[in-house]
Amino acid sequence: MQEHKLRIVILAAGIGSRMKSSKAKVLHELAGRPLISWLIDAAEQLNPEKIIVVTAPQMDDVRAVVAPHDTVIQHKAQGTGDAVKAALPALEGFEGDVLVLLGDAPLMAHDTMQDLIDARHLDNAGLAVLGVELEDPYGYGRLIPDKKGKLARIVEEKDCTEQEAAFNVINTGAFCVDGARLKGWLDQLTPNNAQGEYYFTDLPEIAAREGVKTEICITYDEDEVAGINSRAQLAALEGVVQNALRQRAMDGGATLLDPQSVYFSYDTEIGRDVVIEPHVFFGPKVRIADNVRIKAFSHLEDCQIGEAADIGPYARLRPGADIGEGARIGNFVEIKKTKVGKGSKINHLSYAGDGEIGAGVNIGAGTIFCNYDGFDKHKTVIGDGAFIGSNTTIVAPTHIGDNALIAAGSVVTKDAPSDALYVTRSKPMIKDGWVSRFQAKKKQQKEG
Ligand code: UD1
Ligand code: CA
Repeated sequence: MQEHKLRIVILAAGIGSRMKSSKAKVLHELAGRPLISWLIDAAEQLNPEKIIVVTAPQMDDVRAVVAPHDTVIQHKAQGTGDAVKAALPALEGFEGDVLVLLGDAPLMAHDTMQDLIDARHLDNAGLAVLGVELEDPYGYGRLIPDKKGKLARIVEEKDCTEQEAAFNVINTGAFCVDGARLKGWLDQLTPNNAQGEYYFTDLPEIAAREGVKTEICITYDEDEVAGINSRAQLAALEGVVQNALRQRAMDGGATLLDPQSVYFSYDTEIGRDVVIEPHVFFGPKVRIADNVRIKAFSHLEDCQIGEAADIGPYARLRPGADIGEGARIGNFVEIKKTKVGKGSKINHLSYAGDGEIGAGVNIGAGTIFCNYDGFDKHKTVIGDGAFIGSNTTIVAPTHIGDNALIAAGSVVTKDAPSDALYVTRSKPMIKDGWVSRFQAKKKQQKEG
C-alpha cells in the first residue's frame, strides 16, 4: 500500500468528571504507566510526522508527560469536535491522514490504528471510523447505518432514541480523516445536542451530506478499544493489562505459582527460571536476572536483582536497591539505594539505606543503617566478608572494613578497620540472689 503522510491528534483536554479526581484522567495509570503514555507508545510506532496532544490550560503535568510531542491547548472543554479544532494550527496546510485518538482509550494497538488508516484509503473515503460490536453498548456513541449498510451518522448515548440505542456497533472514538477536508467539516459543527457540545462524531453525517464516502473499520478486540470514564472501568482494564503481563512473564520463562495474585508494572523485566510466589508487587523499573526466587508478599520497585538471588518472603526493595548474585534478602528487610554484594545475606528484620555492602557479608537480625539526621542522607560502606552482629545500629556516615566483626548490639559511630572486632556494649553486671532479696525486702515493707 502507498505511503501516506500521517499526523496524529490525541484528545486529552476533557475534565474527566466521572473519575472524581483532581488528577487529569489521562494521567491515571495502568500497570504503573499513565494512560496517555500507553497510547503515545503505540502511536509512535506508526512513525507519524507529528503527534499533537490536546490539553486543557491547567494541564502542565500532562504536557510534561507527553514531551517532546507537540501539545495544543483547548481553552474550554466544549466537546471532542472543539478539541480537534484546537489542533488545527498544528495541521495547517496538511493534506495527509489525520488520525484522531481519544486519550482515555489507552490500549489501542498500532496495527489496529494502521488498519483504520488503510480502511480509509481502500475505498478512497473522506473518513474512516473504528467500530466494535459490543454486547452492552451502553455509554458509547452508536454507529447508525443507512439502508445500504453504510455509515449514516453517529449518535451519542445521551441523544439516542430507543431504536438507535438498540444498535450495538459503537464508536471507539478513533478516526482517520482526510487532512484536506478536516477544517471544512469542523467549521460545520454545531452544539445542538443533549450535552450542548461540539461532537467530533457529527463528522460522518456532514461528510455524507456532502456526498463524501465514509468507511467503518471493524475491530474485534473490545479491550483494546475500551474507553475509561470511571474508576471501575480503570480497574477493569487494569485486570486486562495484568493478565497480559502475567502471560508475558510466563512466556519468557518465569514460573508464577499463583499468577492472579502477582502485580506487574508495564516494564518489569524478568529473566528465565525465575520463580515468583503468590502476592508479589512490582512497581516500575524492576529488573530480575535468571534463577531468582521471589518469595510471597514481597514489594519491589525501581531495583535490580542479580542471578540466583533469593528475596523474601515479606521483603521490601525500594528505589536503588541493587542485589548481587546469590544474595539473600529475608523477611521484613527493607533496602533502599543500597548495593548488596555477591552472596551477602540480610535475612531478618533490618533496614539498609544509602549503603554499599561488599561480597560475602552477613548482616544479623535487626540491623539498622541510621542514614538520615533529619536534614541529610549519609552513606554506610561495609567491606567484603564483614560480619555485622544482630541488633547493630550503624550511624552513617560510617565505613566498616573488610572482614571486620561488629559485636551484636553495638552502636557504630566510628569507622571500623578491616579485620577488627568492634564492640560498644556496657559490661554486664550480675548480682547473684538479688531478686529474692529484693522481693523479701518489699514484702517486709508492705506488711510492716
Ligand atoms: C466519546 C465519543 C463516543 C465514543 C466514546 C468512546 C464523542 C462526542 N463521543 O464519548 O462516541 O463512543 O468516546 O470511548 O466524541 N476531550 C477533550 N475535550 C473535550 C471533550 C473531550 O479533549 O472538550 C477528550 C477527553 O479528554 C477524552 C476524549 O476526548 O480523552 C473523549 O471524551 P469523553 O468525554 O470521555 O467522551 P465519551 O463520552 O467517552
Ligand atoms: Ca471517554
